[in-house]
Amino acid sequence: VLLLLSLALVAPGFFATQCNLTGKWINDLGSNMTIEAVSRKGDFAGSYFTAVTASNNKIQVSPLLGYLNNTDTQPVFGFTVQWNFTESVTVFTGQCFVDAEGKEVLKTMWLLRSHVDHITDDWKATRVGTNNFTRL
Ligand code: BTN
Repeated sequence: VLLLLSLALVAPGFFATQCNLTGKWINDLGSNMTIEAVSRKGDFAGSYFTAVTASNNKIQVSPLLGYLNNTDTQPVFGFTVQWNFTESVTVFTGQCFVDAEGKEVLKTMWLLRSHVDHITDDWKATRVGTNNFTRL
């Protein structure tokens, strides 16, 4: 009985599946993202192909740089996308979860800063939202 009890206590931590950021992802808007290898320090690079834009420009694949806080099986991360087809930047922050079906999902929030011509337009320059990413 004691053995079973201690197994039940230890098991969730012991069998916890690692959520891994590296690879290809798609979000609820249909945007695609590729994250390259994460270094020992936790930094990573990648590319982002957004399905939507607030600009009138033709969408192009854009680079991203980020950090993963590598200390947990469901780690926290943040990254910045430098949009190369318009004057704006998005920062994402989120956590890599393994859901009840064992599927990895990235739950994120983002801030999109767009360029405005004048300081009086600053109030309307930042959008906020959420995106969920699953493996492609
Ligand atoms: C821009 O229009 O200024 C650049 C593209 C912004 C795309 C945003 S970033 C947050 C949201 N999630 C996406 O996948 N695309 C949009």
